[in-house]
Amino acid sequence: MCGIVGYIGEHQASDILLDGLKKLEYRGYDSAGVAVRNDENKISVVKTKGRIKFLKAKIEEGHGLFGTSGIGHTRWATHGEPSEDNAHPHASDDFNVVAVHNGIIENYDELKAKLIRKGYSFYSDTDTEIAVKLIDYYYKKYLHTPCDAISKAMVRIRGSYALAVMFKDYPEEIWVARKDSPIVLGEKDGEVYMASDVTAILSHTKDVYYLDNMELARMKRGSIAFFNIDGDEIFKETQKIAWEAEAAEKGGYPHFMLKEIHEEPRAVKDTLSSLLKENEISLERLGISDEDLKSISSITVIGCGSAYHVGVSAQYVFEDMARIPTRVELASEYRYRNAPLDKNGLVVVISQSGETADSLAALRKAKAEGIKTLGIVNVVGSTIAREADYVIQTIAGPEIAVATTKAYSAQLICCYALALKLAKVRNSIDEEKYVSLIAELKDLPSKIEEILSEEEDIKKLASEIRNAKDIFFIGREIDYATSLEGSLKMKEISYIHSEAYAAGELKHGTISLIEKGTPVVGILTQSNVYEKTISNLIETKTRGAHIICVVSEDKEKANTIADDLISIPNTAEYFMTSLAIIPLQLLSYYVSVQLGLNVDKPRNLAKSVTVE
Ligand code: AGP
Ligand code: GLU
Repeated sequence: MCGIVGYIGEHQASDILLDGLKKLEYRGYDSAGVAVRNDENKISVVKTKGRIKFLKAKIEEGHGLFGTSGIGHTRWATHGEPSEDNAHPHASDDFNVVAVHNGIIENYDELKAKLIRKGYSFYSDTDTEIAVKLIDYYYKKYLHTPCDAISKAMVRIRGSYALAVMFKDYPEEIWVARKDSPIVLGEKDGEVYMASDVTAILSHTKDVYYLDNMELARMKRGSIAFFNIDGDEIFKETQKIAWEAEAAEKGGYPHFMLKEIHEEPRAVKDTLSSLLKENEISLERLGISDEDLKSISSITVIGCGSAYHVGVSAQYVFEDMARIPTRVELASEYRYRNAPLDKNGLVVVISQSGETADSLAALRKAKAEGIKTLGIVNVVGSTIAREADYVIQTIAGPEIAVATTKAYSAQLICCYALALKLAKVRNSIDEEKYVSLIAELKDLPSKIEEILSEEEDIKKLASEIRNAKDIFFIGREIDYATSLEGSLKMKEISYIHSEAYAAGELKHGTISLIEKGTPVVGILTQSNVYEKTISNLIETKTRGAHIICVVSEDKEKANTIADDLISIPNTAEYFMTSLAIIPLQLLSYYVSVQLGLNVDKPRNLAKSVTVE
């Protein structure tokens, strides 16, 4: 949710920190701040509620911050309302310790009581200030070293944290520590950087280190050293990030979301390519053997939001193609339910960020039950990617817009590939079908391109519905799964109330909401339920609805009832979500743009929900 950055080198830190924080803005935040240490070893803190531009202005009002090392933070409040006092960095009263934090200190109350007994007072309502003063307490009580003080605090703290810490007595160092909230570090030409994710340091270096849980690192000019919780130095390999720095920029599009929609053909192609070997689905590098796949007795797909919707689509494919009983669960429900779990099943956790708190908790629950887990994740080195037993990496590149598009499409591909592999090893489809389905998958990128070439038609359609009070999306089976995602896209970026319904459900209540002109988007790609959905659409039309149909080829009947028709190319009906969702993503995008809304950073939303 929030972002942290750190820098130590030969250049002025302030601009580097602010630039890094701007690259992390997409994560969602409500306040921001920086701390910079000058050549006289004075640490200055500037922080503010609101956007980074206000922080920049405040720094300039104070005639600038000078110094070549510092830390920065964009806050997504969890403890203490968004305010200047609660903004990070937080410091001990004597500035012995100054730090920024991403995460939640769950036992903050007991720690606060302890510190008050030790004579500490508090200026903010945050859990972070408590962690900072706990580090200060251990520093002064024990060895007066950063590693020892932080390690002791890590043992005592329950919760999640990515911490960047400056110590008055150690002007040549910045220390970072991690549990659950991600930290990435990089070094280039003597300059050392850290951040919550790679987008903040990609423009400096593509060779990065990921900190693992309960690890610390010491940043010095020209070097990074890593330590375990016992203070032993450890060695870490760098990981090469294939993303170009500009890949995280807009690349000429007005918004990240539109850029990312137009990247979907490549994301689908790259993801599929990573899963194909001599035209066969290859999951070897996952380390999951054909025998393991054969022995799977059920699949549980878990995710939040759009990731969950991928699971709803995939359920139909796993069950119909691979004949495996499959359930789909909301991560926030699964993690607390006391349901009987299938020890011989496979839990598939889908997450773009790989850091969604509920999805991570669900993964850990499944692992604790001894169930094999597979993560489908977009961010290299993210927590879910590193804790799942197996990982399929979506190759979608950095997704900056809060509303997911290309990662969603890439996740679908991973599910299709897994289903095909399962169907193959379990002989639930014959060789001919297998080969033809792989060919269909390989054609998806060009078919998505074909849909994108009709963008102007969607833009025009958006102008017809942008003032609607309600917009309904309906479908049956895989079309229902697609309608869920189409509705979420519309809601989250246009703020128009929208619902998705299994088309057969309309008459069980929803149809009372249909008024004259209410847009109803019907998705019609599944032959076996096509006529039924047409009938449901007619029911709404007779009550005044404005019918928009998304149809694959040879579904002429839709022409007779649709006020607006969106035709998409044919593909195997298993994979139709991958095509039907594209016009719906564009539709929500253009409605949002035409309403003058913040498409890439919708109100109240964050790209990665790393707190409960
Ligand atoms: C989708 O457009 C939303 N941004 C949201 O529903 C998102 O899919 C959900 O928060 C899950 O995020 P994740 O894939 O990073 O776990
Ligand atoms: N829990 C801390 C706070 O509320 C950090 C939240 C965040 O990750 O931004 O300040």
